[in-house]
Amino acid sequence: MTAALRSDPTIVNVALGDRAYDIVIGRGLIASLGARIAALRPGARAAIVTDRTVAKHWLEPAQASLDAAGMSHFHIAVAEGEPSKSYRVFEDVCEALIGGRLERNDLVVALGGGVIGDLAGFAAAAVRRGVDYVQVPTSLLAQVDSSVGGKTAINSPLGKNLIGAFHQPVLVVADTGVLDTLSQRQFRAGYAEVAKYGLLGDAAFFEWLEANHGGVFAGGAARQHAIATSCRAKSAIVARDERETGDRALLNLGHTFGHALEAATGFSDRLFHGEGVAVGMVLAAELSAELGLIPAGDARRVAAHLAAVGLPTRLQDIAGFRQEGIGTADRLMALMAQDKKVKRGRMTFILLKALGHAFTSSDVAPEKVREFLARKMA
Ligand SMILES: NC(=O)c1ccc[n+]([C@@H]2O[C@H](COP(=O)([O-])OP(=O)(O)OC[C@H]3O[C@@H](n4cnc5c(N)ncnc54)[C@H](O)[C@@H]3O)[C@@H](O)[C@H]2O)c1
Ligand SMILES: [Zn+2]
Repeated sequence: MTAALRSDPTIVNVALGDRAYDIVIGRGLIASLGARIAALRPGARAAIVTDRTVAKHWLEPAQASLDAAGMSHFHIAVAEGEPSKSYRVFEDVCEALIGGRLERNDLVVALGGGVIGDLAGFAAAAVRRGVDYVQVPTSLLAQVDSSVGGKTAINSPLGKNLIGAFHQPVLVVADTGVLDTLSQRQFRAGYAEVAKYGLLGDAAFFEWLEANHGGVFAGGAARQHAIATSCRAKSAIVARDERETGDRALLNLGHTFGHALEAATGFSDRLFHGEGVAVGMVLAAELSAELGLIPAGDARRVAAHLAAVGLPTRLQDIAGFRQEGIGTADRLMALMAQDKKVKRGRMTFILLKALGHAFTSSDVAPEKVREFLARKMA
């Protein structure tokens, strides 16, 4: 299958009043990008922000689509990877946007994974006190998570995503075919977030994934369905709680443990974000079982599904666990305590009261969690 083949797109609306926007999901959509943007903003110019890897595969098709719609455009390609979410690269992007004479009515087009979405989205929020932007997510993680909801950010040397803004895109165009050039490992990491939506709020979707994950990886209608269902889940939560004062925290299922594991492995290639989330979701399910919230069999079912797609599910599955280790339970506890989800000294955990029903809890005794982690490491 190639991205040239088209499917009928699925449209998910993010209901945010006068900042509402559509997420359009389907195979081959990049060819219609220019027409879709031109319909939204006749006469506007577009500044494409991308990374060099994505540019190799998808810049030319995006440019051709803008050309076909008669849109004038220029582009900025930064180095791929998390280090580009820095003050330095942010400055480069802003200067290139200003130097390219982007005006108030023009648009930024973020063509890439979550790094580009966060970086370009934040630049769009800042340049000229805010210009509109379109998300063209090219990783699975970006299509189901980071491109939806309007959180944009770069990293401070003191921590991830500490400098940023809420800035909603005016359109999201998710071409499911562009994921064909993504590495299997990156695709799997994004899949952890897809499974997350089932676990946190949609048991039927989780069950569907257990039966259809092969189709999601293969790239046909099942992939489109999984991405659309994920976007619907995220946009419903974002519409209820745009600025994360309540429900939006449920999206952090598996992330308290996951972030600590990412930090413990130095945010290196040993553990991608989604892989940390996979291990973290299994830990959250197992902790829920130990607290008597769900049957132990349900926790085993979570692990079995994530293992079936090739994701790590145990601390021992993390690359280099034997050689370099991941630190002690105390160290993981300290890292979790530093996580920004900590409120007034209490650690918040997202736990399960059923498969498909997550909730926030601030009253799990830290000693219980430390003892649980120590046992899991043994
Ligand atoms: N704003 C939010 O709500 C939110 C939510 C979750 C994650 N994030 C952020 O997202 C980032 C992670 O996103 P990511 O996993 O997409 O990382 P990424 O943007 O670094 O992309 C991963 C890698 O895949 C490559 N790539 C992307 N699309 C490709 C394609 N179609 N073909 C070939 N290669 C491709 C990229 O060049 C990169 O090397 C983190 O910085 C995280 O903080 C933000
Ligand atoms: Zn995540």
